[in-house]
Amino acid sequence: MSEISIITGNANPKLATEICDQLGINLTEALVSRFSEGEIRVKVEGNVRGKDVFIVQSTCRPVNDNFMELLILIDAVKRASARRVTAVIPYYGYARQDRKDQPRVPITAKLVANLITSAGASRVLTMDLHASQIQGFFDIPVDHLYAINTICEYFLDKQFKDLVIVSPDVGGIRMARAYARKLSAGLAIVDKRRDSPEKTEVMHILGEVKDKNVVLVDDIIATGSSLMEAIEELKRRGARDVYAAVSHGVLSGDALVKIQNSKSLKEVVITNSIPLPDPEKNPKVQTLSIAPLLAEAIKRIHDEKSISCLFF
Ligand code: R5P
Repeated sequence: MSEISIITGNANPKLATEICDQLGINLTEALVSRFSEGEIRVKVEGNVRGKDVFIVQSTCRPVNDNFMELLILIDAVKRASARRVTAVIPYYGYARQDRKDQPRVPITAKLVANLITSAGASRVLTMDLHASQIQGFFDIPVDHLYAINTICEYFLDKQFKDLVIVSPDVGGIRMARAYARKLSAGLAIVDKRRDSPEKTEVMHILGEVKDKNVVLVDDIIATGSSLMEAIEELKRRGARDVYAAVSHGVLSGDALVKIQNSKSLKEVVITNSIPLPDPEKNPKVQTLSIAPLLAEAIKRIHDEKSISCLFF
């Protein structure tokens, strides 16, 4: 393991430390601070010459700062003669603008991919991309992980009977179907209309949820609007206990308040791809660590072993 070097910015240092613990190595020290006017100042303290370097940095809130830190860290380790640089981006921000679905809009997911590549990344390791075709926005290798095994283990322990997995929108059917298969559960789909980035409306629910335990699975919870709207409708249709499982807890606006105040939601399970709020103050949020998954993937990338066999 001596050739692996793990470096982190300020996005999620706790996750980076957990990954190091799993690998039995120390984090490579790096100063990632600010000059007085706000520019990002980076200095990698440990020697990375010839090393297989993994920079762990989710591009979560503050998105632009964390993204710039990632680019500057990549530049620093390239110039320090790292053998290979993998950008480990457990949560890939700017992914929701992934196609030109209206005139005069950007494709930020592609722009971000270009910038990461131009900064000098050799490869990318990420998890539950908002759209898996974002992998194709990169001309460098992308290893795409899934939180499904980590999340399903949690729900398998609960030994639910009469379980239905619900996709909160048509775009999430593939993911929901994979969960349903793993948990031997039924499948239902919410037909959702998005009125604005903050407001959604449930039009229909396809599938039977009456008297069933339900797990809604989604890649992101941002404002919580999609989740809350869907949960209320599921309850109106007679669902028993309603849980949610989310890969990335963006948790913007008053999402946490909505979660805590919801009488219809039993619990929301979220991975630590993004740092989550204090569990003591948010008892309805259950955090699952993806550090073992990322550590295993890093080990496999380093050893040139298969990643896909972890999932398929
Ligand atoms: C939408 O396509 C995504 O999968 C999520 O459902 C969405 O980003 C969640 O956003 P919000 O929590 O703001 O409704």
